[in-house]
Amino acid sequence: DDWAERGAAVHVQREADANGKVQVKTIKKGVKDFTFGRVLGEGSFSTVVAATDRQTLREYAIKILDKRHIIKEKKVKYVNIEKNTLNRLGDHPGIVRLYYTFQDERSLYFVLDLAPNGELFSVLKKLGSMNAECTQYYCAQLLDAVDYMHNHGVIHRDLKPENILLDENMRIKVTDFGTAKLLELRPAVNVSSDGSSHNVPVEDERVNSFVGTAEYVSPELLTDKAAGKSSDIWAFGCILYQLLCGKPPFKASNEYQIFQKIIKLEYSFPAGFPAVARDLVSKLLVTEPRRRLTIEQIKSHPFFGDLVFGPELWSRKAPRLA
Ligand code: ADE
Repeated sequence: DDWAERGAAVHVQREADANGKVQVKTIKKGVKDFTFGRVLGEGSFSTVVAATDRQTLREYAIKILDKRHIIKEKKVKYVNIEKNTLNRLGDHPGIVRLYYTFQDERSLYFVLDLAPNGELFSVLKKLGSMNAECTQYYCAQLLDAVDYMHNHGVIHRDLKPENILLDENMRIKVTDFGTAKLLELRPAVNVSSDGSSHNVPVEDERVNSFVGTAEYVSPELLTDKAAGKSSDIWAFGCILYQLLCGKPPFKASNEYQIFQKIIKLEYSFPAGFPAVARDLVSKLLVTEPRRRLTIEQIKSHPFFGDLVFGPELWSRKAPRLA
C-alpha cells in the first residue's frame, strides 16, 4: 500500500509564521493539486490526461492507471518497472520525465512531461513520409536518448513511432517504459581523474520474455527469446527506414508473417530511398546482434553528415516538416 510513498516527489513550501520565523513544509502533491483536462491517450491499462498544477499553473500529462484492473491482469510488475525506470532516467531532454506519483483508492497517478505535439507516429501518418533532413533531425535525437538510456542501464524494448512524443518545440520525448529492462548497475572500475566514480550498467545481460511490437521486434528475440541493448538498435533501424518511406521494413497482414520476414531478413528498399540511408539501415538491420553498428558508429555514419551529437541537439530549431 506504500506503493506511491517510496521515492515520491514532494513539494517544498517556505512561509513565515506570525512571528516571522520561516517554516519549511513539505507537502505531497495529490489529485486535488491538479485540474484535469483533455484526454491525450488511452491504453489498455491507463489513460493519459492533460492537467495543470493549480499552484504553479504548469501543465503536465498525468497517466492514470486503474489499480483493480492492473492487479486482476497481473500487470503490477510492469507498473513498477515503468516507475523505477523513469526515476532512473530523470534528466534527459529526450525522455519523458516523471515528476510525482500518488494514488487514491481507485487509481495510480504518474505526473509526466506534457508533449503537446503528440506522437511522431501521427505526424508521420499525416505527412506520409519524411525527407532526409527531418529524418536526420528526429533520428539524431532518438539516438541521443537511447544512448543515455543504455548508459543508465535501461533497454527500452518497445521503441516505435507511437512511443516517441513531440514537445512544444517539436523535440522528441521517448515514453512508455512499461516493458523496459533495468540492468543491474555496478560501480565503475576506473575512477575519473577528479576522483569521482560512477555506476555503469552491467554489460551483456540477456533478457527472457517476449515483449515489444511485431514490426520492430529483433530477430534474436524471436529465435533466442533474448534481447539486449542491440535490440533497441534494431528498432532504431526500423524507425529510420519508416520515417523515410512511410512504412516499417517488415510488414505483413499478421504477426506470424511479420516474424517470418524478420527472421529471414526479408525487406527491400523502395526506389528513391537515399543511398546513404540505405547504407546505414543495412548495417542496423543485421540478424546477428553483435554485428550491428554501435551507437558511436551510428553517430559517425555519413547519414548524419557533420551533425554534432551533444547538448546543441536539443536547442536546434526543428526543420519544417516535409
Ligand atoms: N500521450 C501519452 N503520453 C503523453 C504525454 N506525456 N504528453 C502528451 N501526450 C501523451
